[in-house]
Amino acid sequence: FRISLLLLPLALVTVVYSQGGSFRPPSIPAIIAILRYQNSPCTTDSNTPGTCLAQNDCLARQGTPDGTCASGFASCCNFKFTCGGRTKENETIFVNHLYPKTDNGTNTCQVTIDKQPNVCQLRLDFEEFSLAQPDENGQCTTDSFMVRTTVGERLPILCGDNNGQHLYVDMGRGSANPVVLSVVTNGDMIGRKWKVKINMIPCNNLDMAPSGCLQYFRSPSSVIQSFNYGLPVR
Ligand SMILES: *[C@@H]1O[C@H](CO)[C@@H](O)[C@H](O)[C@H]1NC(C)=O
Ligand SMILES: *[C@@H]1O[C@H](CO)[C@@H](O)[C@H](O)[C@H]1NC(C)=O
Repeated sequence: FRISLLLLPLALVTVVYSQGGSFRPPSIPAIIAILRYQNSPCTTDSNTPGTCLAQNDCLARQGTPDGTCASGFASCCNFKFTCGGRTKENETIFVNHLYPKTDNGTNTCQVTIDKQPNVCQLRLDFEEFSLAQPDENGQCTTDSFMVRTTVGERLPILCGDNNGQHLYVDMGRGSANPVVLSVVTNGDMIGRKWKVKINMIPCNNLDMAPSGCLQYFRSPSSVIQSFNYGLPVR
């Protein structure tokens, strides 16, 4: 930490120098703001959780500067959790590769969620979810979203529009097996986009849905809509 403390003003000088052309010493408030917010959580312009970092640090760690933080003195760094990713962190947000833009084409995008000993269920919130519609038989033949687990009920294969829907996934008590989410897309006729929040629910927690329940609504007045699969012909 001491090293970064010493280097930070220096990095800032470099940034100011290279951007402005003419040398301007960094202001004291700028240094204090960056030191204070360094590594703290922030919200990116794409509305995903980010980490507040000096722009150079963000780029050096393979992130994408996406918005500002530290009163505008640093970047909100976006470390996207997308295709090929693996996580054990709570509240991870799984997005399509080009999010917030849409993806197009034939692809398999897969992420792995490792089981933590104290976690028994996952709640997936489809904050945004738009894949190709099912075929005339209601089958997800073009695109599909699948959850692979080794325990619990078989989960439905999803496609079409499922904005605002959620799904509970049992991870099992004894199992140490991960859960794999995969999105398979076929063809380039539409743009696909998704943003799925992954919440880990501790075992023996009141938030746990009854085992085998796909959807669980605590509020008696919430609107219950069926998933966009098995839709009649339109
Ligand atoms: C998908 O990509 C193809 C080929 O690059 C392009 O012609 C098509 O317009 C794209 N579709 C969408 C919805 O972006
Ligand atoms: C994950 O975060 C949610 C929301 O903050 C919280 O309710 C839950 O207990 C957390 N799960 C774990 C395993 O810490």
